[in-house]
Parts: sequence; structure tokens; C-alpha cells
Amino acid sequence: MEAVSTSRVADVVNDALAALHEVLERHRVNEEEWHAALAFLTEVGRADEFILLSDVTRTSVLIDAMEHGGDDSGATASDVEGPLYVDDPPWRERPVRVYEEYEGMGDADVLLVRGSVTSTDGTPLPDAVIDIWQTGPSGGYDLWDERQPEFNFRGRWQVEDETGAYEFQTMLPKPYTVPTQGPVGRYLEAMGQHPWRPAHIHFKVTAPGHAPLITQVFFPGDPYLENDTIGAVKAALVRPVEAEGDHLACPFDIVLRPST
Ligand code: BEZ
Ligand code: FE
Repeated sequence: MEAVSTSRVADVVNDALAALHEVLERHRVNEEEWHAALAFLTEVGRADEFILLSDVTRTSVLIDAMEHGGDDSGATASDVEGPLYVDDPPWRERPVRVYEEYEGMGDADVLLVRGSVTSTDGTPLPDAVIDIWQTGPSGGYDLWDERQPEFNFRGRWQVEDETGAYEFQTMLPKPYTVPTQGPVGRYLEAMGQHPWRPAHIHFKVTAPGHAPLITQVFFPGDPYLENDTIGAVKAALVRPVEAEGDHLACPFDIVLRPST
């Protein structure tokens, strides 16, 4: 709030209130319903699910589009961060492998993701830091799956290579559901909205003198590409997966925009 001028806050909040009041009047929302709505929002706060609510209502996607949609610099498309990033992930040694095998991981394909990190003018960025997070092949994040070691399928590293080339070893993720055990799960059920997301890998990429990039990579043929529950799939971020000997490979070049 401090970073925003009072008149900006007042402008936006007054419009938000006018829109809310109009909807409440149009639907003749009664006292019991309004109290239920307030109790729901209280629960969302207590469960720390406001980011998740922003995501499943596709508000995060709208904000991302307004913030980055007009970027014609040639930089890689951004995407929403979601609620499942964990601060201070481990630094991985090169050659980078972001997981340990665990009991119950099931059938899984080893996947090498590789490409380069460059600036929009093609200059390689060896100082760039790549930070990724994703679910394991059994469909869950380490946070929900006690079979997985802490920080499994998470990690960051510096590119170092003078040509900007990077590569990491992971496993092909699978589609999964956003958390449904809390108030947002009840919201999804009440709205008749399914909780599934297509398989994806999240990336945060930073480099000196460049705007940070937060994005996600998706894979062709996924049943939820067209109906991601948070609506975050962008065609440019669906990357091919090719068989390569006993594993799979996915090319993903990352282009960062110089900061202004
Ligand atoms: C995720 O991709 O990790 C995610 C995004 C939005 C809501 C829940 C999970
Ligand atoms: Fe995710």
C-alpha cells in the first residue's frame, strides 16, 4: 500500500466498490449470503489461499497479460508464478539434476531440458540464474508428498557457459490438480470448475541488467492444454518433447529483456 499513491488506491477501490455494489443489488444478495461470502474470504486468508484464489479465478492471468502482454521486445513470454514457489531453493551443481528418485515415483521419463539464455539482441547471458520448480512424476509437489525429499524437483543454478547454453535433468511432469482440500477447493466445486492443470515446469530467470522472467513450459498433447483451470497456457510456451536414446529432450531457449 505504501508504494501506491493515495489517489491511485482511492481511484481503484472506489471503482471496485461501485462494481461490487452493482452486483449485490442486481442479484438482491441477502444478509445470510453476504455473511457467508465474508466467512469464505476469512477462511481463504486463514488458509493462506489468496494467491490460489487469484489463480483459479483467472485474475492472475489477467494481471500478467496487462503487465507483460504488450511486450514486443522478442523476450520469452511470461506466465503466472502460482502459489507453490518455495524461497531459497538449493543451488544445484552442474551437470544439473533437480531430483532424487523416491519410492512410489512410478513410471517416469527422464527429461533433459536445454537451450540458451540470451538478451533480446542475442548476447549470451552466462551470469543468468535459472530457478525451476515442478511436480514429480507421481503428480505432486514435494510440499504435499512426504515420500519426496524436501526441495525435490526444485533448484537453481548459474548458467556459467560463455555461450549462454544450459541443460538440466528432470522427469517429465504429469497433469495435476491444484490444492482442493481448503476453501478454494470448495469454491471450485460450487462453481463446477475442475481443478486440473496441464503438466508444466515453472521457471524464474534473472540476469544482471535484465528484467526478471517468470514463466512456465508446457508439453504437446496434454489433455488440459485447452482447459487449464487457471487459464495460463500460452501457445509460445508449449515446447516439443523429443525421444533421444533412453530419455526425452525438450528445447527451450530463454530470451530476457534489458531492464529500462
Ligand atoms: C501451479 O502451477 O503450481 C499452480 C498454479 C496456480 C494454482 C495452483 C498451482
Ligand atoms: Fe505448478
